[in-house]
Amino acid sequence: MHSYFSLQGRTALVTGGTRGIGKMIAKAYVEAGATVYVCARDVEACRQTADELGALGRCHAVAANLATEEGVQQLATRLGEQMTHLDILVNNAGTTWGAPLESYPIKGWEKVMQLNVTSVFNCIQQFLPLLRKAGSPANPARIINIGSVAGISSFGEQAYAYGPSKAALHQLSRILARELVSQHINVNVIAPGRFPSKMTQHIGHDEQALAQDTALIPMKRWGREEEMAALAISLASTAGAYMTGNIIPLDGGFSL
Ligand SMILES: NC(=O)c1ccc[n+]([C@@H]2O[C@H](COP(=O)([O-])OP(=O)(O)OC[C@H]3O[C@@H](n4cnc5c(N)ncnc54)[C@H](OP(=O)(O)O)[C@@H]3O)[C@@H](O)[C@H]2O)c1
Repeated sequence: MHSYFSLQGRTALVTGGTRGIGKMIAKAYVEAGATVYVCARDVEACRQTADELGALGRCHAVAANLATEEGVQQLATRLGEQMTHLDILVNNAGTTWGAPLESYPIKGWEKVMQLNVTSVFNCIQQFLPLLRKAGSPANPARIINIGSVAGISSFGEQAYAYGPSKAALHQLSRILARELVSQHINVNVIAPGRFPSKMTQHIGHDEQALAQDTALIPMKRWGREEEMAALAISLASTAGAYMTGNIIPLDGGFSL
């Protein structure tokens, strides 16, 4: 690997790093040399992920429920005891809710907005002191928010809260990128199209639904782990040091 893409000596936190896109990114960071912390609610999944990725390098897991303010604070307190600074914060944990328009429950709307927007804002607030300690003009700290093409395109798919939550996250990222650039913290968004995960398995495991879905993607396929890994490494390494405030679709052309 070229040194421009090395994460040797860096510390990263990947929220929701126990499966799906978060795990793809956590694994890539471990392999690129970073010390990686993952968090999720499921204690056993945390332990398994730390064991599995720890075999490739350095990976630790902390169970936390980021859907509450207390959960975010507890995570920040626990990690504050284990690290002096945080180079890379990947806000990946997210959720969705689908239902017909007329019966779409407000509790579903609020759950999505809480985890996809409010808790990301809260994580950034809580980890700012550690990110500030890591960032320098030569090597800024990185916040990488996982948005979605659903925050760009108008395909709602009855997940009425999801697209708006991701659009809000994209805009929050742009505002914070401007504000934090003088503090040597870069803020960028990866806006994935379809990637295999628990969130998308209802499509991926249904042959007909998968065919209809891929027909809408110009490249006629879903994204692959190595494609997510490569972009996430780029944004976190020297390769991405001059990038801030970008919303980067990774979607086989879907957002076109
Ligand atoms: N997959 C796609 O095609 C796709 C496309 C566009 C955007 N995205 C975005 O990518 C991100 C990851 O999605 P994914 O598809 O990989 O989803 P996923 O497979 O459902 O994984 C979600 C991860 O977040 C964790 N999580 C969920 N609720 C949490 C909470 N309250 N507190 C802490 N951790 C929590 C989960 O672990 P626990 O359940 O144990 O907490 C899990 O590790 C999301 O932001 C999603 O919106 C995904």
